[in-house]
Amino acid sequence: MVIKNINLETVCGITSKLPENELPEIAFAGKSNVGKSSLINALMNRKSYARISATPGKTQTINFYNINEEMYLVDLPGYGYAKVSEKDKIEWGKLIERYLHGSKQLRAVFLLIDIRHDPSANDKMMYDWIVEQGFEPIIIATKLDKLKRSQVQKHVKMVKTGLNLVPGTKIIPFSSVTKQGRDEIWELVETEYLG
Ligand code: GTP
Ligand code: MG
Repeated sequence: MVIKNINLETVCGITSKLPENELPEIAFAGKSNVGKSSLINALMNRKSYARISATPGKTQTINFYNINEEMYLVDLPGYGYAKVSEKDKIEWGKLIERYLHGSKQLRAVFLLIDIRHDPSANDKMMYDWIVEQGFEPIIIATKLDKLKRSQVQKHVKMVKTGLNLVPGTKIIPFSSVTKQGRDEIWELVETEYLG
């Protein structure tokens, strides 16, 4: 995808009405701090248009980035952040549910998992739930730069087994530092989900 223009068009909090967009949407889910906003920046060729932070819980809203007036990249709030109150966790969960369940333009959901660690119980719940909503999530294994090359296959397998992925599910290792995996993600989005 050649990025001509980007625009953070809509920001939705727990009390917001969700937009009824006309363009296709691609959403990114994953636990807090896994690298969703960093991935979206990499896809947009920007360093910090989507706000990122070393402190988990940065993105607390659903952010719709309009790309070239062609489509939206949708940044979802992260789950599993310990310092968030139970009440807020429930409210965010409801917001994400409202979106995944209600959007008419949502074409694909990417689930981000840190390639270094076994998927958590929350990761598994999120994966199963996305599947239950009728999507075939694509897994992005993030922070690839933190592994030695010789460890990658083993960790990809760990993610596969840990999530108990439906056979045939795609896993794309990705690093927002080296941008490895970026072209493959765009290629997939353009060939499978747009047009
Ligand atoms: P929330 O908005 O809190 O849900 O987090 P997020 O999933 O949007 O994560 P974000 O992109 O803000 O990144 C969290 C931290 O991880 C930041 O310090 C990033 O610089 C770092 N990070 C993200 N992706 C990578 C990566 O591929 N490699 C490395 N080494 N660090 C990364
Ligand atoms: Mg974020």
